[in-house]
Amino acid sequence: MMTVADMGYKEFTAYLEKVFNITLGDVKKIIKAFHSEMKKGLSGFESSLKMIPSFVERPTGRESGKFFALDLGGTNLRLLAVELDGKGASNVSTVSKFVIPPKTMTGAGDELFDFIAECISSFLTESNIDKEKNYDLAFTFSFPVEQTNIAAGKLIAWTKGFTASGVEGKDVIMLLNEALKRKGINCIRIAALANDTVGTLAAKCYNDRDCDMGVILGTGTNACYPEKISNIKKWRGLDPRGEMIINMEWGNFNKLRFTSYDKDVDDESLNTGCQYLEKMVSGMYLGEVTRKIIRDYIHRGLLFTNADSNAFIKKDSFLTEDMSLIASDESTDCALIDEFLKKSGLTEVTIHGKMTLKNICRITSVRAARISAAAISAVIKWTDPKLKNNHTIGVDGSLFEKYPGFSGAMLDVFKILFKEKASKIKLELAKDGSGKGAAIIAAIAATAGTSS
Ligand code: GLC
Repeated sequence: MMTVADMGYKEFTAYLEKVFNITLGDVKKIIKAFHSEMKKGLSGFESSLKMIPSFVERPTGRESGKFFALDLGGTNLRLLAVELDGKGASNVSTVSKFVIPPKTMTGAGDELFDFIAECISSFLTESNIDKEKNYDLAFTFSFPVEQTNIAAGKLIAWTKGFTASGVEGKDVIMLLNEALKRKGINCIRIAALANDTVGTLAAKCYNDRDCDMGVILGTGTNACYPEKISNIKKWRGLDPRGEMIINMEWGNFNKLRFTSYDKDVDDESLNTGCQYLEKMVSGMYLGEVTRKIIRDYIHRGLLFTNADSNAFIKKDSFLTEDMSLIASDESTDCALIDEFLKKSGLTEVTIHGKMTLKNICRITSVRAARISAAAISAVIKWTDPKLKNNHTIGVDGSLFEKYPGFSGAMLDVFKILFKEKASKIKLELAKDGSGKGAAIIAAIAATAGTSS
């Protein structure tokens, strides 16, 4: 029998198609495993899904007021001034964006929080804010946080390449307050702490009552949904009649079929053994999984000539953005791909080589889209097993927004799985949802009088 090592171009490509394929049977298995992990997570048992209570329910659309929002969750930090009119409309008047230097992401925790305070100070100055007045700020902190109330919570573990020391296990609001004090900023009160998924759900829900899921498909991936309090078994003593939004932290779901490429990406990551689903799906890792396959083709002598055999040899030298660009090239002469390859210093690539690159990107991105769709289906089936209601899924993130064909590949899964009822599911971009949504959550906190 032929081993993987001896395969020619056709056999190797067919082999990859097979190991990366997510069939209807796989989707069903993923849904089943999701339900079992969700149940365990909600009951407080060991589970790859943390199912974290967020201390908020869905907004009514009547929340109003002016808030600042601080959004930290990837390589950029953003500050926004958001105004909610109480009738479902929100207006963002100022946005400042700051790039977080890699050494700040991985250095000492205090330095990271001092950097955040510095950004807040620049934002206040640039936007001519009167520092004699007081302002409510909502903090979108897009990492797994064990919340203790709407404006307090401890970081469980860093994800997405952050490793700043001395933060895990600490209350991030306390750390931010201390940094604001060090910087002499007294006009800011932190009114709410929210995960980006919760912000996204709140933002979409503010003007669409059918919205019952917030999903991020960007640098990282995660989702939240409103759960009946009676189902949150790990929570005793709460009024069982209401609902609470649950941050699933689905990036950590680990009941998926890993390939050798996924294993290598995991081994070389800063959080080996964690965030398996995220590493198979999200923008931070998709380029790297794809690069590993490209290198395997090259290594086998199936792609590029000797002159280009060192192509993409360095970790992270092929990005998800590059894949997006390659996927967007529909010309017969692969003009865009050609331009990209030339910029990367590759001059001798044949049309066949370019088509191979495009095909590899298709294989890994379709797998990512199908896994995301399977995960969304699991939540829909959990809350509405017979799919009786309409479901708007608010989605934010560049993978969903910018990757050609990504949302289409997700919708295909819903069609195969739910047949004609699939039309009840709408995937809608919730651009900047996390910032706006955090402001809505701060407004909920202000009305409930629960913020600290
Ligand atoms: C990571 C974080 C999660 C966040 C997601 C999307 O998975 O752990 O909290 O929601 O990225 O930004």
